[in-house]
Order: sequence, then C-alpha cells, then structure tokens
Amino acid sequence: MTGRLQRFANPAAFFQAGLMRVCRAARQALDERGRFSIVLAGGSTPLPLYALMANQGLGVPWESVSFFFGDERLVATGDRRSNFGTIAPVLFIPAPIPVGNIHPMPSTIQPASQAAVIYEEELREACGCLHWETPRFDLVLLGLGADGHTASLFPHSPALLERQRLVSAVPPPTTAKPAVGRLTLTLPCLNAAREVLFLVAGQDRERAVAETLAARPTPALPASLILPEKAADWLLLAAAEDRAV
Ligand code: 6PG
Repeated sequence: MTGRLQRFANPAAFFQAGLMRVCRAARQALDERGRFSIVLAGGSTPLPLYALMANQGLGVPWESVSFFFGDERLVATGDRRSNFGTIAPVLFIPAPIPVGNIHPMPSTIQPASQAAVIYEEELREACGCLHWETPRFDLVLLGLGADGHTASLFPHSPALLERQRLVSAVPPPTTAKPAVGRLTLTLPCLNAAREVLFLVAGQDRERAVAETLAARPTPALPASLILPEKAADWLLLAAAEDRAV
C-alpha cells in the first residue's frame, strides 16, 4: 500500500505543507517520547523547507530535537557538494539548535567503510539503542532522483541488499550527480522510521514519481524499496511550466 501523494502548483504551499508535516511529527514525538528525531534529506529541494523550519520553529523546544542525515557526499563540509555544508547556513546557524543535537555524517574519514561504522555507532548512541537495535527515527525526509534513487541508494546498488548495517559507503553514482562517493542510511534503517515523507520537485521528477508509485518493489527504482510500517507520503511540486493555470 502506498501513502498519500499531494501535488502542489505553488512552491509556498508546497514548503508550508512540508513544515506542517514536520511540526505535526515533532508534536506527536514530544507527546509520546519527549524527544523528536528527524533525518534530513540532502539535495536542493528541501532547502526552503529547512529555512522555514529555522525561521518559524517546529512548535517544540530545539533542545528536544535531534538532526541526522540520510546521506552525505564524501567531501569536506566546506565543499559546495556537501549536504551538511549546504544545510548548516540555512538551518543550523539561524536556529538556536544545540550543537550536540546535530549529527553530520563523518564525510572525510577514510576508508569510507570505517566512516559508515562510526556513524552507525553515533546513531545508536544518540538514539539510546543497544548495539543490536535499529533506531526508529520519528521522521525521515527523503528526496527522489530522476533515476529513482533516494538518499544515496542508487539503482541496482549492492547497498540495496544490506540487511544488517544501518549505514553503507557507496561508490560514485553513474546515474546521478555529483559523481562522488557517499555514505547513506540503508533500507533497514530507513524502513524502521515511524514516518517517511518524500519531498520532490523538478521537471524530470514527475515521471520518476509515477514510475516509483506504480512499480512493484524493485532495485531498479530504489525509492520503491522504501516500505516503512506506515506507508511513506509524498509531496510533489509540479514543474514550473505545469504550474501555469
Ligand atoms: C543527495 C540526496 C539525494 C537527493 C535527490 C534529489 O545527497 O543527493 O540525498 O537523494 O535527495 O537526488 O535531489 P534534489 O532535491 O537536488 O533534486
């Protein structure tokens, strides 16, 4: 069963809907567990949402919110391709978020397989999990590439076969940019989330969304393998020329 797809023609409405979903998840997590854990999507689409979050808040104390990353490019944080380096000035600097609540992926530790192990340990420690437990994030934000990738799980990647580890190191993709090695949360980790929300925008993404939602789960379309207990929802911002009314 798939979740709900909401299509937007208006960017402001699209991002406001995203903020509402984050705030709702935050409130529910605070009511139930006293804390809110969110996994941020990389890429460019969610950046205006992150700016809204910083500007308007989540309706819960920042001290109760922990931020994690769904994936990261294996570059320094000052590199323009860094997800953390791109998100920090939009969200982490403007908002009074305690530094200890922000968990960037160790993007410069080599070998990358060791960086994956280190982040996996950090995830469990930050979420209070024992070493064999899988953290259950309250909300995971994901994007979608034109090739059907999500996080840094690319079509037919061996990382899609991972059933134990929470974090994998993956080689530079051949179907998406930037073509650099990455760290990514794995399917077991992502699918343990209490809630998953895809935020998708762009002319070449409508087809990828339609194909993903229509497909049986397949490694050809990694986003089709995102199958949390509560089906993922989708917010789709129509391509600019389609917004004209
Ligand atoms: C990354 C992202 C990736 C992204 C999609 C969509 O590090 O590249 O995590 O999965 O979400 O590629 O990217 P855009 O939002 O830039 O279209």
